[in-house]
Amino acid sequence: MAIVPPIKSQGIKTKLVDWIQSNVENTKYDRWVEPFMGTGVVGFNIRPQKALMCDSNPHLINFYNGIKTKEITSSKVKAFLTNEGKKLLASNGEYYYDVRKRFNAKHNPLDFLFLSRSCFNGMMRFNKKGGFNVPFCKKPNRFAQALVTKISNQVKNVAQIIELGDFTFKHQDFKATLNEVTKKDLVYADPPYIGRNVDYFDSWSEEEEILLNQELINSNANYLLSTWLSNKYRTNDYIFSIWQNSFITTTTHFYHVGGKEKNRNAVNEALISNLTLPNSITVKEMESKIEKGESQLTNQKEEKQKTEQLTLKL
Ligand SMILES: C[S@@+](CC[C@H](N)C(=O)[O-])C[C@H]1O[C@@H](n2cnc3c(N)ncnc32)[C@H](O)[C@@H]1O
Repeated sequence: MAIVPPIKSQGIKTKLVDWIQSNVENTKYDRWVEPFMGTGVVGFNIRPQKALMCDSNPHLINFYNGIKTKEITSSKVKAFLTNEGKKLLASNGEYYYDVRKRFNAKHNPLDFLFLSRSCFNGMMRFNKKGGFNVPFCKKPNRFAQALVTKISNQVKNVAQIIELGDFTFKHQDFKATLNEVTKKDLVYADPPYIGRNVDYFDSWSEEEEILLNQELINSNANYLLSTWLSNKYRTNDYIFSIWQNSFITTTTHFYHVGGKEKNRNAVNEALISNLTLPNSITVKEMESKIEKGESQLTNQKEEKQKTEQLTLKL
């Protein structure tokens, strides 16, 4: 069963982990490198013997370094969340904002975990000054015993993987991470989607995507990049410009807007690589098939949707 990390985030790849894993299982490498580790769910499930996991968000790195040095243990997490959960319940939820203020002043990793697990929709958002600014999930009894046990088990599982896997966590920009990479590494890059986020630690521009492409090529390492290919409305044209000399393989992923079944939306997810992956084709082949109308991707207009769009024929 997939390892679920204790920290939550909107870009988390939990549902794509098996697919990513199936694409790398026959690739040999000395070290697994993630310049954009986020919650770490991909690396923790791949379970490499050696890993370098980095992110520009210092709070993620502090949290996992805390687990590595055993400053954060499952029993400490259990005691902390039980105690703080009681205060949250007694205050009818108002205490969430005390913890948020305390975290923004002192950056305690346990407060970070508390906020990640009791904020609205498990989101991770920081304002211009780097302050966590997600509101409360409005469930004062959020840390009932069953959830506290679940979270402390997640900490225990991740701690075991970190211990077995010689993991290094570093707070740094992706450029610094890619400077450390050698040709024996396998890089898994999962940058933010271009233009989608306005978060302090998590914005991403076309220039950065171009730089990422160049730095990956210069590193001489094998790499995989996670990105989206198309949704109901749009295709990701950057694939055909910036990543045109790569291989691509795709899968369809469903997500629910606001958790409602009727708002089920499909996104076609892509893995782009300098390796031939199972079922991959070149990006150029995909583009030419689209142009000739021979691709899995066809131009189809939806009745309600006037603008031209690309949809995946399943
Ligand atoms: C899509 S998320 C990664 C999600 C991760 N694979 C997971 O499943 O949890 C992108 C991550 O990139 C980080 N990030 C954004 N800009 C960065 C940069 N310039 N250098 C390093 N990390 C960056 C963000 O903080 C965020 O954690």
